[in-house]
Amino acid sequence: MADWDLLLTNARVATMAASVPGYGEVEDAALAISGGRIAWVGRREELPQGEAAKTLSLEGRWLTPALIDCHTHLVFGGDRSGEFEQRLEGASYEDIARAGGGIMSTVRATREMSADELFAAALPRVQALAAEGVATIEIKSGYGLDVDNEIKMLDVARRLGEASAIAIRTTLLAAHTVPAEYRDKADDYIDLVCDELLPEVAARGLADAVDAYCESIAFTAPQVTKVFRAAKRLGLPVKLHADQLSDGGGAELAARFSALSADHLEYTSSAGVKAMAGSGAVAVLLPGAFLTLGETRKPPVDELRQQGVPLAVASDCNPGTSPICSLRNAMMLASRLFRLTPLECLAGTTREAARALGLADDRGTLEVGKRADIAVWDVEHPRELAYWIGTPQLAE
Ligand code: NIG
Ligand code: FE
Repeated sequence: MADWDLLLTNARVATMAASVPGYGEVEDAALAISGGRIAWVGRREELPQGEAAKTLSLEGRWLTPALIDCHTHLVFGGDRSGEFEQRLEGASYEDIARAGGGIMSTVRATREMSADELFAAALPRVQALAAEGVATIEIKSGYGLDVDNEIKMLDVARRLGEASAIAIRTTLLAAHTVPAEYRDKADDYIDLVCDELLPEVAARGLADAVDAYCESIAFTAPQVTKVFRAAKRLGLPVKLHADQLSDGGGAELAARFSALSADHLEYTSSAGVKAMAGSGAVAVLLPGAFLTLGETRKPPVDELRQQGVPLAVASDCNPGTSPICSLRNAMMLASRLFRLTPLECLAGTTREAARALGLADDRGTLEVGKRADIAVWDVEHPRELAYWIGTPQLAE
């Protein structure tokens, strides 16, 4: 029996390992795969004796960890191009939400669609991400907002994983906005989420994490606290849409619950950054939403860096604030709008994105023992992945 299933040689490798600075570059490298895991990686001349069932010469191409989109809402019904027009004519995201549009309009469209219809609408989005080197995608619920429809969304997300070669991580985002039928009764809705929906989702094993939207147009910190306590009781890790449109103390709240990540963070204060630093939470930056909403206040990237908070980048693919089905474009935007370096953009869509999903031990770098999720690129250097705009460079 061969020692390895596949041996890749004549490659250049960016391991993105945290233990070495920069990209972890290895010139003239070899990488051996066994049982879907990386069995060996390093300089070709140091490759130990072994037999491979198949050997591929990559002719100097670059290998990086496959990309990870750690924040999407890509299962949804309808679209919000009408609201896009309204915003360009002067309405704000908050105005539209308060008038019953925004997230609620996607909730109406999503409730109307069957699981099969939602699946068919979402599959091309998954395929678009896969075509640019993404191998793991997080998908949130949050457009169902009742027990049946939230479960329907999570089921569809799981099915997308079964139907494609992409690994899907699901997140319950039932606390996304107050559904119309609970208008002025947000606390009752939170009780439904904590007492009925969360236990049901946990019992069915449908969610890998629990998210909430802490914002003036969504839920207060005490309401989110209730959801997080319920999630923790069921053994589910949490994450948070934090401080996107105002400073609601979201970063601090996420830190207090040892959240996997706090996402958006445009209005996070210095205290919030410091709280995150001690907590292990990843800062997930979502430049697609920043761009689409025409935001001007940027996340405190310098402070996050100074405090050593890990930075991830995600597409936030959703019909309202980030109709962007491209992680490469999110990298491009993170570099232009938030001044992340190309290295930070790549780390933010590999190693740190894995960490934001609680998968740091399993994927996100090219190191022995990790999943053999590998992207092969036709580039001269991996910095080009944040540099080129709309240029497909995935070799396989
Ligand atoms: O990440 N901020 C809240 N949630 C989404 C937007 C959802 C929507 O508008 O449909 C976001 O931006
Ligand atoms: Fe989001």
